[in-house]
Amino acid sequence: MNIGVFGGGQLARMLAQAGRKLELDFMFFSPYSDSCAAPFGDHLCAPFDDPLALQRLAEWADVATYEFENIPLASLESVEQRVPLHPSSTVLAVARDRLLEKRRFDFLGIPTPRYAPVETLTELTNAAKDIGLPAILKTRTQGYDGKGQAVLREESDLAEAWERLGKFPCIVESRIAFDREISIIGARDQKGEMVFYPISENHHRDGILRLSINRLNDPFQDRANAKLKKIMEDFNYVGVMALELFQVNDQLMANEFAPRVHNSGHWTIEGASTSQFENHLRAICGFPLGKTTSTESAAMVNLIGSLPDENRIREIPGATSHYYGKAERPGRKLGHITLIGKDGSSDKIEQRLTALLQLADEPELASRNF
Ligand SMILES: Nc1ncnc2c1ncn2[C@@H]1O[C@H](COP(=O)(O)OP(=O)(O)O)[C@@H](O)[C@H]1O
Ligand SMILES: [Mg+2]
Repeated sequence: MNIGVFGGGQLARMLAQAGRKLELDFMFFSPYSDSCAAPFGDHLCAPFDDPLALQRLAEWADVATYEFENIPLASLESVEQRVPLHPSSTVLAVARDRLLEKRRFDFLGIPTPRYAPVETLTELTNAAKDIGLPAILKTRTQGYDGKGQAVLREESDLAEAWERLGKFPCIVESRIAFDREISIIGARDQKGEMVFYPISENHHRDGILRLSINRLNDPFQDRANAKLKKIMEDFNYVGVMALELFQVNDQLMANEFAPRVHNSGHWTIEGASTSQFENHLRAICGFPLGKTTSTESAAMVNLIGSLPDENRIREIPGATSHYYGKAERPGRKLGHITLIGKDGSSDKIEQRLTALLQLADEPELASRNF
């Protein structure tokens, strides 16, 4: 089968790597000549609104998908008229806009931090009074890895944050002092069958995910599954979806959902019977879903900005490195390492995780116990 992918970054690359097992061929539609997925298929290198490129993708592909949210909706819709697109453009229209996304959570009865749409500094000032500080100002669209966000600690922060972000429509939301940040990743196939992975516990620094750990038998698993199920069923969804949640005491609040494979699920490549990438492909191709069973501890550490010495990683039992073939640049996701709980002697990964976090230049996380 031919899979057309909007986007050519590491998520597209890892989809194609998983797709080999399923004998799938890939075409990546991405305007960047150095797209890191390109070596794994054909690269349609053109602007996302190029009508000829859109036509070519639709003619070649049996099914189309996307690996990130910032694709013009009109481009997706034009392909969707000619070939099945999973997840649909309707889902993306909601997921790409934080206001529509929050309203969908409201509609489904899924709690979120208090929020308000803001379009002027006066509206922001009033909303901040109403919601209370600390709060976070976020652009409604185009944000990722904490970009397009400003933390509002005191009233004097408002004007500067608005100066920076206010030329775009925004939302402001209460900043949650969460106990944990987790995500739940699941897949729904074309018959409506669903599978869910064990919860990932996520640790961010500067708005970028640094570490995910699978939490087997987590007390919040069933509640997280139920929330994700609600969203997937509401959209008649096909594919992998990730839902980011804040845990506060015994409550779960939704942060955002992603209609795609997710960074916090990269541990599933080595740590689950079927990876999130394979299950996304199975779902969109109309194949049955694979098992999500995970029997051992697994952790994923992102490699951001620069790469550690490969031999130091090889010294760590149970560690597998994944490089995305990108040049080093500050703040850029260059790869990740998965660490699995089997090293022959013990199922504990704590010590090895500490070593790995040191190599990944995360001294603060390395000093903590997980
Ligand atoms: N309302 C909030 N309260 C506390 N922390 C937040 C809040 N919103 C975002 N964050 C932190 O910032 C990170 C990135 O924000 P998020 O809204 O998920 O944007 P994106 O992942 O698209 O960059 C979150 O994972 C979380 O760590
Ligand atoms: Mg997020």
